[in-house]
Amino acid sequence: MTKTTLGVVLAAGEGTRMKSARPKVLHGLAGRSLLAHALNSLKGAGLDHAAVVVGPGHDSVAAEALNIIPDAGIFVQEVRRGTGHAALQARNAIGTGHAAVVVMFGDTPLLQPESIRKLADAVLAGAGVAALGFEAKNPFGYGRFLTNDKGELLAIREQKDATDEERRITLCSGGLLGLSGPHALAILDAIGCDNAQNEYYLTEAVESARKLGLKTVPVIVPEEEAFGVNDRAQLASAEAVVQGRLRRTALLGGVTMQDPSSVYLCMDTSFARDVLIEPHVVFGNHVSVEEGVVIHAFSHLEGSAKEPVTVRAGASIGPYARLRPGADIGAKARVGNFVEIKNATIETGAKINHLSYVGDARVGVNANVGAGTITCNYDGFHKSRTDIGAGAFIGSNSALVAPVKIGDGAIVGAGSVITRDVPADSLTLERSKQVSMSDWAKAFRAKPENQKIKP
Ligand code: UD1
Ligand code: MG
Repeated sequence: MTKTTLGVVLAAGEGTRMKSARPKVLHGLAGRSLLAHALNSLKGAGLDHAAVVVGPGHDSVAAEALNIIPDAGIFVQEVRRGTGHAALQARNAIGTGHAAVVVMFGDTPLLQPESIRKLADAVLAGAGVAALGFEAKNPFGYGRFLTNDKGELLAIREQKDATDEERRITLCSGGLLGLSGPHALAILDAIGCDNAQNEYYLTEAVESARKLGLKTVPVIVPEEEAFGVNDRAQLASAEAVVQGRLRRTALLGGVTMQDPSSVYLCMDTSFARDVLIEPHVVFGNHVSVEEGVVIHAFSHLEGSAKEPVTVRAGASIGPYARLRPGADIGAKARVGNFVEIKNATIETGAKINHLSYVGDARVGVNANVGAGTITCNYDGFHKSRTDIGAGAFIGSNSALVAPVKIGDGAIVGAGSVITRDVPADSLTLERSKQVSMSDWAKAFRAKPENQKIKP
């Protein structure tokens, strides 16, 4: 018999409480959509196949799913008739001979891969249904686990259908279920909608499996993992949990943070050892930081999938620096305050210490870019490149009008507007000659009409 496993992710909900034009599962958490969190956990759990159930017209949700798992099956739930009904939309995937099927939700992003794995393993070990449960501090709103004295799971009772006595139970349903693959369709097809909400409850799979003579078991996880996101306050709470996890991983991996609570990370932020991050630093997606880098306070770093940001060993960033997509900062290079770097390679030991914009450029080894220097890379239509050679020195407040090349070892005088290539090792100045007229100011003040004005 085949031993493959399938994860079915339910993501067809309207997400009305998000008060948003965007489907709920596409809202972000640490740089990734809620759906991406669910699908990555599914991958992390080692499930072999994935199916995603989306709402009608939710092409953007389907596209996001395929972006993360290109061979995921996409199924549309035309009308929203409950979680049991939603799971059955993936009938064609469920019915293809898997050993275990795990039904997951698109809006529980804190669930760890190990917990999903436990559901699959409980099924592979012989359960007809394995249901994810947790001890709730406040059980209101959740389905309750009805168990016998042997700890077997007999049924899950939804809040709206529960008696007062059942409502006192604190062992609650996280909603997710593992189903025996060979029995999954029979279990799901037997679910009815005779309940307070007139919906097909996935949780009824427990009773339905027992009627078929199958074993039903609880799989208990920490409450935090079962946390579902329905509104933006819950989204913010989930963000706090994910940030806490990411910071802890970074700290234990050898990163120093003086005030972790003020450092914002993304799921894919990567650090080597002995990185120092001062307070109030924001990492967007696609940033990797090598050993011994110091990131001073109030810096903002964000790459893109095509143009990541890399900060190489021993470099120093900020305070108040901004690294945008394609910023590649070389070993021991320095990017100082109020400096913005976009799509530019700053080579080993180069310095751009104050108030600069460097975009579409290369700054060569040990070059020094003076305060206020701007690469003028955009003429309103096209982007052009600036190439600064090794050891070059660009005087303060220079404008380098791209496309332009500054040769190795060249010096550009402060305040120059450079529009043509600068030869290596030359001094190039582009500004009018300084003139001084002796005693002109004194004579000006001595004019009768200026007498009232005190110097
Ligand atoms: C569900 C469980 C409940 C559990 C709780 C945990 C059921 C009947 N109840 O309730 O026992 O305590 O989760 O958070 O399963 N969805 C669809 N199509 C539908 C309905 C829902 O795709 O027709 C999706 C939603 O997008 C969501 C997920 O299924 O991702 C869960 O639906 P939701 O309505 O939030 O279920 P709860 O009432 O929270
Ligand atoms: Mg819910």
